[in-house]
Amino acid sequence: MTDASFRFTHAVTRQPAASITSGLRAVDTGTPDLAVMQAHHAAYVAALRATGATVIELPPLSAFPDSVFVEDTALCLPQGAVIMRPGAPSRLGEAAEMAPTLEDLYTTVRRIERHESFIEGGDILVTGREVLVGRSARTNAAGIAELAAIVADWGHSLREVFTPPGVLHFKTDCSLMDADTVLSTDRLAASGCFAGYRVIAVAEGEEASANAIRFNDAVLFPAGFPRTRDRLVDAGYAVTEIGNSECAKLDGGMSCLSLRFTPG
Ligand code: GLY
Repeated sequence: MTDASFRFTHAVTRQPAASITSGLRAVDTGTPDLAVMQAHHAAYVAALRATGATVIELPPLSAFPDSVFVEDTALCLPQGAVIMRPGAPSRLGEAAEMAPTLEDLYTTVRRIERHESFIEGGDILVTGREVLVGRSARTNAAGIAELAAIVADWGHSLREVFTPPGVLHFKTDCSLMDADTVLSTDRLAASGCFAGYRVIAVAEGEEASANAIRFNDAVLFPAGFPRTRDRLVDAGYAVTEIGNSECAKLDGGMSCLSLRFTPG
């Protein structure tokens, strides 16, 4: 997929709902402040738009506290979109809420539909050469097998990889920087899953900065992690720092907040 793995014409986001205060979290580090999250979200959308992309902002969905994290609802590839089956029971219904938007944009939309299949977009990293999927508490073998069959129809190979224990999603610990380069925590890279890729290591103690996004010429990166930011700048990336303090309370990051794609 080369540049198609990080150059996109479109993104979809969803504004945070007041119910975000009830969002899922592994550890309670405080209640997210809605106003601060809204300000961070606005900066995030502005940074996407600054690259020239069309950004579709969906309205808040109060029935789904975690629905700001739209990435988990779908996988968007050049050939089509796949509607996921989130493994968190409170999030399962978010996928159906996203489907009409993608059906308006894509000619081909397929679905993970088996009762036993669960898979969330946060566990999927699309690189320039393959689709990597980490099995996690949210993504199971049946979900991965169903997705593998769909993407094979579109000419993509899928490889199951390792999500470190206790880590929410595969992409909690890594990000694509360009077709052959990933930003990764040491604990994830140590699994060997990025053999053959160039790996930029997240600085020790800044593991929470591993979830960033390359979107066209920009890298959107969470504010507050200066040593890792400097590594990316030194590697030649145009880094835009975005506040992530409130999403971080819900284990969310830069990738979680958008679907990024060029509709086919
Ligand atoms: N709070 C995001 C998630 O757990 O899916």
